[in-house]
Amino acid sequence: MSNESSQEPQGCFVPSPDVIANANIKSYEAMARWAQEDLPGFWAAQAEQFEWFRKWDTVLDESNAPFYQWFVGGKTNIVYNCLDRHVATWRRNKLALIWEGENGEVRTFSYHALNREVCKFANVLRSMGVKKGDRVTIYMGRVPELPIAMLACAKIGAVHSVVYGGFSVEALHGRLEDSESNVCITCDGSYMNGKIVELKRIVDEALKRAATVEHVIVFKRIGHDVPMEQGRDYWWHELMGLPVARANGGNRCETEIMDAEDPLFMLYTSGTTGKPKAILHTHGGYMVGTATTLKWVFDLKEDDRYWCAADPGWITGHSYIVYAPLLVGATSFMYEGAPTYPYPNRWWSMVEKYGINVLYCAPTALRGLMRFGEAWPNRHDLSSLRLLGSVGEPINPEAWRWYHRVIGKENCPIMDTWWQTETGMFMITPLPVVDLKPGSATRPFPGVEADVVDEHGDPVAAGDEGYLVLTKPWPAMLRTIYRDPDRYVTQYWSKYPGKYFTGDSARKDADGYFWIIGRVDDVIKVSGYRLGTAEIESALVSHHAVAEAAAIGLPHEIKGNAIHTYVILKAGNEPSDALIEELKAHVGHELGPIAKPEKITFVPQLPKTRSGKIMRRVLRARALGLPEGDITTLEE
Ligand code: PRX
Repeated sequence: MSNESSQEPQGCFVPSPDVIANANIKSYEAMARWAQEDLPGFWAAQAEQFEWFRKWDTVLDESNAPFYQWFVGGKTNIVYNCLDRHVATWRRNKLALIWEGENGEVRTFSYHALNREVCKFANVLRSMGVKKGDRVTIYMGRVPELPIAMLACAKIGAVHSVVYGGFSVEALHGRLEDSESNVCITCDGSYMNGKIVELKRIVDEALKRAATVEHVIVFKRIGHDVPMEQGRDYWWHELMGLPVARANGGNRCETEIMDAEDPLFMLYTSGTTGKPKAILHTHGGYMVGTATTLKWVFDLKEDDRYWCAADPGWITGHSYIVYAPLLVGATSFMYEGAPTYPYPNRWWSMVEKYGINVLYCAPTALRGLMRFGEAWPNRHDLSSLRLLGSVGEPINPEAWRWYHRVIGKENCPIMDTWWQTETGMFMITPLPVVDLKPGSATRPFPGVEADVVDEHGDPVAAGDEGYLVLTKPWPAMLRTIYRDPDRYVTQYWSKYPGKYFTGDSARKDADGYFWIIGRVDDVIKVSGYRLGTAEIESALVSHHAVAEAAAIGLPHEIKGNAIHTYVILKAGNEPSDALIEELKAHVGHELGPIAKPEKITFVPQLPKTRSGKIMRRVLRARALGLPEGDITTLEE
């Protein structure tokens, strides 16, 4: 079991009367009780707040568990509820999105304008032959066209597969091929920390290895010359200017009527094998789960300005930059670049400039900014902030206190939201009215049931460490792993039958508050990014000099965890600093800069079980100078 335990700091933070008086939900207990007594009734009441072309027959169908189904028989489309519904009201003139580029450029979209762009792009996709059920890969920088592309796919019933723009050739290739996408949407390049990421060139290289893609649509962000292959590659702006896109003034494109259980998107995430798995989410349940959690946890009000500083390429961005804020009719802010570009006050200057009320980010970003000192945020008026959020990894007490004191001026409750790509929505999280203990994600969202169990699935005593499980289905849950239902069952539902295994360890204290400790499988959270040890190892082994490799995560002050690797070289190769640099660059090229190992150590052998499995646990213990634990299966 991992030992990345968060220490329990002293003190409980009680929300102010003001926060309670203004909160959307006044009592956590009342809501939790309602959901406990009548789970289907509770979620049906939330679902009632959306438009359905046909209402569901059954809220929750458990007959084919763990292939749970929600709102069975219901017909809707999440985009109808994100856009069509709002443009028919006064909200058509409300800002849906404010965007700032790393270079300071600003673009804004009202609900009307966003709907127009989505309709136009949906018309383009349809004219290319994209239809309901087809998969479309989106590999872009953080520009407004990324959510526009996602929404356009969903509008016509295509299934989007967004690949994070920080991934590289091999990662993109694997995802393109597994999803069998016919269309890939990208940018000529993207800006990140003052540098340019050559997205189109990476696509070109990936496509040499992947055969299914027929069309590439390229949004011009950088303006550099990029090779365009005739008959395959098209410029976004040229397609959007065609009569087909502008049909009916560009504002019309029929929204496909979808079954509640029809797939909305797939999102690849790392697991225990080298092959990333495509987590599949659906239109109906995902819509109800993400919108309800956003409205209750971040307490969004009609006149709020909300900023989720994640990347749309991860689940946090899918759920809480793109879909949920539009579902609740919010105004979101989105920023293209790095938090420290050109100076470490960039984020705080934008909070001030746009009057952000709710800020949601990852502890790693806070730790990264903390090291530059308080003077940077203190130069700005942050008084618009009223609520803060944290996600992706446990928030350590120092970062929590800094966030609370320096950014929130001790006025802003911090919503520490625990959830996963697989859960789609916040699972263990406070509401603003809940007493906070820094470092704890507090209790499950109403309707969510969680527990901490031992090896046999029995609940552990209060305060003891164990495995975190979810014991009831929830509407935004993954439905399966795309094209691999067996893996869905074995990965999540077989360790403890009837319970969803999260892959995390945790403790539950005497008040029922959960303290997440970290992953217990072969997943490493690096700067909040989720990477599989096996992916990193296979990237290393694809280098001609490497015979074998092992990757582990070790604690890192800013990143949370850093990747340490152990490499056995093939005969005839000598260890050298130059080779270390070459291997790091190789992993960066194959997987992406986020996967570059912090450290590479050449070793003559690796600790393995007699059946040949690398014992990463032993490597970790040795690196940290800790006892090696049970090594009876270790091969001499
Ligand atoms: O280990 C937990 C950690 O992130 C994992 C899920 O990663 P991913 O699918 O990339 O989704 C991240 C964004 C939702 C979890 O298994 N994690 C996520 N949120 C928290 C967390 N660990 C502690 N506290 C959190 N608030």
